Amino acid sequence: GRVVVLYGGSSAERSVSLKSGAEVLRGLQQANVDAFGLDLCAEGADPLQQLQQAEFDRAFLILHGRGGEDGTMQGVLEIMGKPYTGSGVMASALGMDKVKCKQIWAAAGLPTPQYAVPGEGTDMAALANKLGFPLIVKPAHEGSSIGMSKVDSLEQLSQAITEARQFDRAVLVESWVNGPEFTVAVLNGKALPVIRLETPHEFYDFDAKYQADDTQYKFDHGLSAEQETELQRLSEQAFEMVGCNGWGRVDVMLDQQRGFQLLEVNTLPGMTDHSLVPMAAREAGISFEELVVTVLRGSL
Ligand code: DAL
Ligand code: MG
Repeated sequence: GRVVVLYGGSSAERSVSLKSGAEVLRGLQQANVDAFGLDLCAEGADPLQQLQQAEFDRAFLILHGRGGEDGTMQGVLEIMGKPYTGSGVMASALGMDKVKCKQIWAAAGLPTPQYAVPGEGTDMAALANKLGFPLIVKPAHEGSSIGMSKVDSLEQLSQAITEARQFDRAVLVESWVNGPEFTVAVLNGKALPVIRLETPHEFYDFDAKYQADDTQYKFDHGLSAEQETELQRLSEQAFEMVGCNGWGRVDVMLDQQRGFQLLEVNTLPGMTDHSLVPMAAREAGISFEELVVTVLRGSL
């Protein structure tokens, strides 16, 4: 049947999705899949109308962020009776919520950094006292490190929370993990090779993700074989506990004292030419075309 690649969208990650979508469409077409792209919300278009007017049998979803990655679009496709790639409504909604994921993982005994969700009357000094500096402040429902900052003092903390609130009502304050960051792509429930991320920036921020040429991606990750297996199993469990389907990417840091710590699961990871899932697939001997065809076959 005919495949529509849904990309673009109106979230803060629209620019990333435009790139991911172009790559996915090219990959599907190269694999001789009858596919076309649909830029949702292009110039204020009504996405429901766009979907109703399009003729397709299944959808390859490559929208990032809210309104596409968060279960809402998955729900629309369910109602339309159209199969789509990746996670279903519930896992997509959970994956977009960093706090809910942490609660699920913690309940399952999986390691994730200590955190707090500050509200109106929160005593910031007590919060900082409990978690200790440095801290990392994140909007609970964003991607690509948008609105995130690392802070070292009470004053910076309030500022960072105010900034993160511009992107999201819910803000998460997390203990800083003093160690390297890794990412693990998961394809049909199985972890691909681990990638270690190295950036001269304070953390792996938006610029380091998509613009900088001084970010390093290493398959030579410095972990022992046991540690690598542990990290892969942990990522598979994290994916499974949230109820994810098809493909995704789990971000993890290694704390010197506490070991691996789960940061988040991305249910619609980037597929740009800077992105990590295609890189991990290539390392496993899976070409970009094979990757997109495998994801397509796993449609719900
Ligand atoms: N949120 C971006 C697209 C990623 O996780 O790759
Ligand atoms: Mg993300």
